[in-house]
Amino acid sequence: MANVAVIGAQWGDEGKGKVVDWLASRADIVVRFQGGHNAGHTLVVGNQVYKLSLLPSGVVRGKLGVIGNGVVLDPDALLSEISRVTAQGLSVTPENLRIAENVPLILPLHSAIDKAREVARGAHAIGTTGRGIGPAYEDKVARRAIRLSDLAEPEVLSHKLDELLLHHNTLLKGLGAETFDKQDLLDRLLALAPKLLPYAEPVWELMDAAHHAGKRVLFEGAQAVMLDVDHGTYPFVTSSNTVAGNAAAGAGVGPKQIGYVLGIAKAYTTRVGSGPFPTELKDDTGRLLGERGHEFGTVTGRPRRCGWFDACMVRQAVKVGGIEGLVLTKLDVLDGLKELRICTGYQVDGQVLKRLPASIAAQEKAVPVYEVLNGWSGSTRGARSYAELPAEAVKYVRRIEELVEAQVVLLSTSPDRDDTIMLRDPFAG
Ligand code: GDP
Ligand code: IMO
Ligand code: MG
Repeated sequence: MANVAVIGAQWGDEGKGKVVDWLASRADIVVRFQGGHNAGHTLVVGNQVYKLSLLPSGVVRGKLGVIGNGVVLDPDALLSEISRVTAQGLSVTPENLRIAENVPLILPLHSAIDKAREVARGAHAIGTTGRGIGPAYEDKVARRAIRLSDLAEPEVLSHKLDELLLHHNTLLKGLGAETFDKQDLLDRLLALAPKLLPYAEPVWELMDAAHHAGKRVLFEGAQAVMLDVDHGTYPFVTSSNTVAGNAAAGAGVGPKQIGYVLGIAKAYTTRVGSGPFPTELKDDTGRLLGERGHEFGTVTGRPRRCGWFDACMVRQAVKVGGIEGLVLTKLDVLDGLKELRICTGYQVDGQVLKRLPASIAAQEKAVPVYEVLNGWSGSTRGARSYAELPAEAVKYVRRIEELVEAQVVLLSTSPDRDDTIMLRDPFAG
């Protein structure tokens, strides 16, 4: 039986949380390998709704959760999320949550810089979540990040804070924002140490032992391929690699252990934040999709921009993301629409392209080429077998499969965990 990696195939919020929760019943370990609390994964189990940002979605099933070294970890955000889910009846302890000791931390100054830079960008703002994700990854690559294991060594921590503040206070001053006091930060971190260190461990060893014991691992991606720092709509992207290949580096396992790669896509497209979106609908249909799909960001509450399914973009995500099978979610949101459109290419400067151009200016100019399909009058909401789907809905799914060059292996027909149709078992490899 293979491991499975779940990644987003559009611009995020495709329903990764729901799919990971559903698959987690048959996994032993669920691992987050990139991103941070910019992610918002919603799980609906009966009348309980869980909103997770940092905790791997397997915690709801009582599975072992692992936060890999590829994540950027905000200690305050983690502790408040643990309290929140504990109040909902879940148990999160060092018994069922392990965190890589070499994970870089997000400090309050990262979010301050994130926000100050967004203000300075004015009309060119990226529309980040303001959670300090970009600045924290910058510090990691610049080799000045504070890592979880540093909390056990007050002297190292003190020295590292000097270097960090030299850099960041200079920057904050230049941006006209408030600077940070070293002693204050040191005290905060030392106070957090006893709460966080019990979770810390060399996760690569845990993963190695799990591999040899034949455990099933589910890698839970955050964000999505079009937000990938290399392959997405740069610079309107997040600051990590979201493609499946990064599951290995971000969890400390070899590439062969990633297993079967499952890409998640909505049956239409949404995007939160700024940046090109060729199939965006600024009309009544776009508003209808937003209302029906409850398209509001889990993290920031911002309305998500909505548009038609972009097969050209998802095909590209399939290729660069290493996606072998697709999960199509939110099919029910399209119920009752008379006509549906699927983007099959873009017109840019008189040429038809079958991929998104690399230049942001060209992406902005891309005019979608559409194929028009009939909608369906019946309902797909809550369907749990293929036989329950209207014929036109099946046609829509089949056409998407052809265009994106990947098999649809699961279909999701409502937010609820159980309203899922399995066409092929991803753990079968
Ligand atoms: P993620 O970031 O990829 O985990 O996705 P989010 O949780 O941010 O956003 C997906 C939203 O759609 C959540 O509110 C889910 O409860 C909801 N959702 C997931 N699958 C379906 C589905 O098949 N139908 C409908 N109507 N909602 C869904
Ligand atoms: P999940 O895991 C949707 C977007 C932000 C912004 C850009 C950069 O729930 O799918 P950042 O704060 O990461 O520097 O913001 O990326 N973004 C997401 N959009 N879903 C997410 O996560 C996102 N995480 C970041 O809106 O456009
Ligand atoms: Mg989300």
